[in-house]
Amino acid sequence: MLTLGIETSCDETSVAVVDSGSKTLSNVILSQSVHTKFGGVVPEVASREHVRTIIPIYKQALEEAGVTRDQIQLIAATMGPGLVGPLLVGLSFAKGMAWGMEVPFVAVNHMEGHLAANLLSQPDLDDNHLTLIVSGGHTMLVHVRSFGEYEILGRTVDDAAGEAFDKIAKVMGLGYPGGAEVDKLAKQGDRTYERFPRAMRHHEYRFSFSGLKTAVAQYLDKLSAEERDKHLPDIAASFQEAVVDILVEKTVKAAKEKNIRDVTISGGVAANSRLRELMQERLTRAGKRFFYPPIQLCTDNAAMIAAAGYFRFQKWGATEFVVDAVPYLPLD
Ligand SMILES: Nc1ncnc2c1ncn2[C@@H]1O[C@H](COP(=O)(O)OP(=O)(O)OP(=O)(O)O)[C@@H](O)[C@H]1O
Ligand SMILES: [Mg+2]
Repeated sequence: MLTLGIETSCDETSVAVVDSGSKTLSNVILSQSVHTKFGGVVPEVASREHVRTIIPIYKQALEEAGVTRDQIQLIAATMGPGLVGPLLVGLSFAKGMAWGMEVPFVAVNHMEGHLAANLLSQPDLDDNHLTLIVSGGHTMLVHVRSFGEYEILGRTVDDAAGEAFDKIAKVMGLGYPGGAEVDKLAKQGDRTYERFPRAMRHHEYRFSFSGLKTAVAQYLDKLSAEERDKHLPDIAASFQEAVVDILVEKTVKAAKEKNIRDVTISGGVAANSRLRELMQERLTRAGKRFFYPPIQLCTDNAAMIAAAGYFRFQKWGATEFVVDAVPYLPLD
């Protein structure tokens, strides 16, 4: 079943064509660069960029997939969580297209999209699995009993892991969004150089990153310009290790305690090389199987939305056209 996926929840305009939730025919992603000069996403500017680019991106997605419009059998779009203006652009476009083409339409939760990136790319993954969703706005540990049936075991009480990466990248002068830059710099550093705090170690599956963010920012403040330059890779690596260590520790603990064999990570921070490495190491040691999506399916993209939309349609059919954008849409 050829599914057109549309993702516009933040600052990526993305359109994809996916066959039956398992084969990506195209996945065009346009990251809006206009926000760089503001150091963060400006919602109104993002909405306008989506309006300007969605049709050309849609045409490119069909072309790259080698399909024509009349071959599309299902249209899926993100309805939330995200920025309301940007969400409305993609959702309205999808509804209009589905209405005009007389094909079913499915509204998708963006976080379900992130976790579906694994369903799309990992055919061996068990329906029943544990996933750590780590993105720019969310950090949560979810027991997926089957597609659509979620138990949130824990989440962050303050900042998301991605937010911490972005903030530290900013204070280090690495630009925005800076998670990937911190990852790159950390590769040249010593992760044991400084031990930054691991918060909420004894609080079940809850996470906290705002204290760590402040600790690293203050640590950097106290350094001389020379020391800072000399040890920036070591500090990046030590900061990254603090984030990754606590993420891995709690994920492994949950997999053991809940007796879940298969574990995945998803969301933008799932692209992090050290997170992948340490998860693999400690999960293998615990006798668990570890899966993660290719990097282009970690950060926001429409292929994961098409996949989630397809699985949703298989289970529950189409969504009514009256559905609206919901900025704080919960996963459960
Ligand atoms: N290699 C990496 N290491 C660490 N963080 C990374 C890496 N690559 C991307 N990120 C981070 O991932 C985040 C973007 O992920 P994503 O696109 O899933 O977030 P979002 O869509 O803005 O938030 P949400 O999905 O919660 O609504 C940013 O915070 C970015 O810094
Ligand atoms: Mg996202």
